[in-house]
Amino acid sequence: MGSVAELNPATLAALIALVRKHTGIAMTERKSVLLERRLRPRMDALALGSYQAYMDRVESDRSEIPHFIDLVTTNDTQFFRTPQIWDYIAKRFLPEWQRSHPGACLNIWSAASASGEELYSAAMLCEEFKLQHGPLPYRILATDISQQMLELAAAGSYAGRSVERLRASHPALAARYFVADGAGVRVKDELKRNVSFARHNLLQPLRPAQQFDLILLRNVLIYFDAEHQQAVIDCARPSMKPHARLILGESESIQRLASEYSFEAPMIYALRESQP
Ligand SMILES: C[S@@+](CC[C@H](N)C(=O)[O-])C[C@H]1O[C@@H](n2cnc3c(N)ncnc32)[C@H](O)[C@@H]1O
Repeated sequence: MGSVAELNPATLAALIALVRKHTGIAMTERKSVLLERRLRPRMDALALGSYQAYMDRVESDRSEIPHFIDLVTTNDTQFFRTPQIWDYIAKRFLPEWQRSHPGACLNIWSAASASGEELYSAAMLCEEFKLQHGPLPYRILATDISQQMLELAAAGSYAGRSVERLRASHPALAARYFVADGAGVRVKDELKRNVSFARHNLLQPLRPAQQFDLILLRNVLIYFDAEHQQAVIDCARPSMKPHARLILGESESIQRLASEYSFEAPMIYALRESQP
């Protein structure tokens, strides 16, 4: 359908407000081309002739909300994104944690997991750690607001650049933890054994309440304004065990927000009261 009406300033403002309402994501008017490109195919599929008609559909038909969320979220990710963080987890966090919690189960939360590369990176490091240092019971909870992303993460099938990059950066792990699957690869079942998935909006407290030793909250705060960043870290706070670490993305910081977290190293935060 080529006749979809233009995204005029008033409709764009209403659309940006709708994105914020359902996801917390703060978009500016500069995102109009991106919104147009992402929403038009869906509007065409529903035979809706204007953005206003599509917004009315989102507001009146709850079953459209997950589609809308899938379309407006940005889900770029990769295995072992930001290598220094994975070095920190493998060489410092895991050995220290195992020493101070003998026999306990390590609980990890991949809090905006997108298509799962982050959570399987964590699972691979735990499996590697077990091979070298003995038992390390662990559980990983992967959550995202996008149902479509969670389904991809649960399937654990990857192809294209995602796999090429992994093979280049971690050839031994690519060979050990993946099997051929059509044109791409699929994570082996042993990597999925300790993983569970749930849809979760970071602007709400995690339900049922759970506490973690390591929270990966990476490359998602950048999409929120300061008010919603504050809400996200406040909601994550009860999910931190006293000695947990919170890991952010490369261009993210919470130092300017009022927070109970203290800076340990770039991207790495602990709870204030647990500082030595
Ligand atoms: C760029 S990806 C980051 C993936 C991964 N953490 C990484 O660092 O590679 C951002 C993810 O945040 C999710 N997201 C956006 N708003 C969210 C919200 N309010 N609650 C939960 N997840 C959200 C998106 O669906 C997307 O999958």
